[in-house]
Amino acid sequence: MNGSRSFQLFQSDAVEWLRSLPSESVDLLLTDPPYESLEKHRAVGTTTRLKVSAASSNAWFQIFPNARFAELFGEVFRVLKQNSHFYLFCDPETAFIAKPIAESCGFRFWKPLVWDKCTIGMGYHYRARYEFVLFFEKGKRRLVDLGVADILQAPRIRGGYPAEKPVSVNETLIRQSSDENALVVDPFMGSGSAGVAALKLGRRFAGNDVAEESLALARSRLLAEGGVEGRLLAVQEQLLAKCGGAGA
Ligand SMILES: C[S@@+](CC[C@H](N)C(=O)[O-])C[C@H]1O[C@@H](n2cnc3c(N)ncnc32)[C@H](O)[C@@H]1O
Repeated sequence: MNGSRSFQLFQSDAVEWLRSLPSESVDLLLTDPPYESLEKHRAVGTTTRLKVSAASSNAWFQIFPNARFAELFGEVFRVLKQNSHFYLFCDPETAFIAKPIAESCGFRFWKPLVWDKCTIGMGYHYRARYEFVLFFEKGKRRLVDLGVADILQAPRIRGGYPAEKPVSVNETLIRQSSDENALVVDPFMGSGSAGVAALKLGRRFAGNDVAEESLALARSRLLAEGGVEGRLLAVQEQLLAKCGGAGA
C-alpha cells in the first residue's frame, strides 16, 4: 500500500467494481448515487440539475434504480472492514427506501444527518434547502468528535458537476470516521469531492464512476490537491484484469 494522499480511479458499474474488491479491505465508504427519485422531479420540472452543466459540459447521468440497492449495500457491507462507517447522501424520499434495505444487509442505522445548503432551491411543495446523509455502522466504531452537530452547513455548489457535494461536508464525515492513511472509497464519485476531502485529510482514496467526464474531472481535482496516482488496490486490479476490465 502506498502512503497517504495517494489515489486510484476506476471506470465501471459501481456494484461490479465493488464486487472486485477484497472483503474487509475498505476503512470508510461514503457515496452519492444518482437516485430514481430524480426522475420524479424531472417529470414535474422542479429541478434544473437535469440540464447540461456549464462547468462540466456533460449531460445528466443515468440514474441508479432503487431495485439495485440490495446488491449495492450487500457489496458495501462486504468490502468494509469490521467496525467502520458508511455514509449515503440521499434525498428524503430515497431515505425511506434505502434505510431498511441497508439494515437487512447488516448495517446498523444511526440517524440521518442533514446537509443544510443555506439557501432554498427548486420545488413547488416547500422549496428544497437540505439533503440527508444516512449514517450507518458495521460493527462498532466511535466517532472522533462527539461534539459535532447533526446539521452540516455548507452552501450549495452552483454551476459545478451535476449534484456536486461540498468538500467541507465530506471532510467532516471523513474526519469523524477514519484515521490518517485510511482507505476511503466512493463508487459513484462524480467530480471526486469525497476524494479531494480524503486527500486533504491525509487519507488514501479509491474512486469509481461509469462516466468518462467524472474520471477526467476527478483526476484533475485530485492531482491539483497534491494527490499521487498510484496502485492502492493491486489485488483488485488483478481481479479486474481477469474479468476484462482495468483501472482507468
Ligand atoms: C450524484 S453524482 C455524484 C456527485 C459527487 N458526489 C460529487 O460531489 O461530484 C452520481 C454519479 O454516479 C455516476 N453513476 C451513475 N450510474 C452509475 C453506476 N451504475 N455505477 C457507477 N457510477 C454511476 C454518475 O456518472 C455520476 O457521476
